[in-house]
Amino acid sequence: MPKFPAYRPRRLRRTEPIRSLVRETAVHPSDLILPLFVVEGTGVRRAIGSMPGVEQTSEDELLRDAREAAGLGIGGVLLFGIPAHKDPEGTAGYDEDGVVQRAVRRLKAELPELVVITDVCLCEYTSHGHCGILDGRGSVDNDRTLEVYAKAAVAQATAGAHVCAPSGMMDGPVGVIRAALDGAGHTNTAILAYSAKYASGLYGPFRDAVDVQIIGGGDRKGYQQDWRNSREALVEVAADIEQGADMVRVKPALAYLDVISAVRSVVDVPVAAYHVSGEYAMIKAAAANGWIDHDAVAIEQLTAIKRAGADIILTYLARWFAESARR
Ligand code: PBG
Ligand code: ZN
Repeated sequence: MPKFPAYRPRRLRRTEPIRSLVRETAVHPSDLILPLFVVEGTGVRRAIGSMPGVEQTSEDELLRDAREAAGLGIGGVLLFGIPAHKDPEGTAGYDEDGVVQRAVRRLKAELPELVVITDVCLCEYTSHGHCGILDGRGSVDNDRTLEVYAKAAVAQATAGAHVCAPSGMMDGPVGVIRAALDGAGHTNTAILAYSAKYASGLYGPFRDAVDVQIIGGGDRKGYQQDWRNSREALVEVAADIEQGADMVRVKPALAYLDVISAVRSVVDVPVAAYHVSGEYAMIKAAAANGWIDHDAVAIEQLTAIKRAGADIILTYLARWFAESARR
C-alpha cells in the first residue's frame, strides 16, 4: 500500500491558469436573457423596492436599457407589460396598442438585431391577478384562456417579437399558440415553453414589479406545479415539444437544478432556466447586509444553473454579469 494517495486532484488546482484549463462550464453574456418591465408614459423610471437595480420603465427608457444590453452582448430581452388599466379579461394583453406591443414595435424598429422575447400571460393584465380568464366559480377557465393567449401571441408576433414565451401554466398552450401564429403567417416566430413552472414562494418580488395581487389572497396552485414533484415536468416537456415548442424552460432555477438536469437529459432542444425575482432578491439583500460577497455568489449561482444543463438563463443579473465580463 502506498503511504500517500496516488490520485492527487490538487495537481490541477494549483494555479489559476491550470484551473482555467480544466474548467468545464463557463457562462457567457450571450447565454443570458434580461427581463424588462414596461409601463405606460414617457420618461418613467420607477424603482422596484424588493429588486434593487431593477426598474419599471416607459418605452423610451426601455429602449435605452435594451440598447445598452445589446451593446453588452446580452442574448436577448424578455418583456413584461404593466398596463395603465387592468380588466377581468386582460384585454391590454392582446390590444395592438397594448404597452408591450408598442414597446416591441419600437425595439424592433430601432434595434432590429436584438432578440425580443415576450411573456404570454394574462396576470399582468387582469384585475383579479390570475393567469387566465375566470369561470363563474372563480377558477381559471383553461380553454377560454388559451384563446386569449393565442390572441396575445399573435399581437406580439405582429409587433415583431422573435419568441413568444407562454408562462401561464394552462394545459396545452403551445399547440394552440403555434396554430394561431402559423394561421396569421408568423411561421418564423419561435415558442419558448414553460415545461416546468412551480408554484414557488420565490415570485414575491416579481409581483411587486408587475403590480399584481391575486384576488382574495389566492394562489396559483391550481395551475402551477407542486414543487414536491419532478416527474410530471418530463411529461410536460414531452407534450410541449410534441406541440411545437422550440425551447423549453424550468423555473425557478436553484431549488430545481435536479429538474433542469433531468429535462436536459431527455430533450435535444435548447433548455432555459429562470433565475427568478426571489433568487435575485436573496443575493441582493444578503450582500447589502455584508453577509455574502455579491459578485462571488452571483457568478457561482449562474454557473451552477448552466452546469446543471441550462443553455439559456433568464436573469435580472444579466446586465451586471455582462458588465463584469468586460472588466
Ligand atoms: C406569471 C409570472 C410569474 C413570473 C413570471 N411570470 C410569477 C407568478 O407566477 O406569479 C415570475 C418571475 C420572477 O419571479 O422573476 N405568469
Ligand atoms: Zn401569469
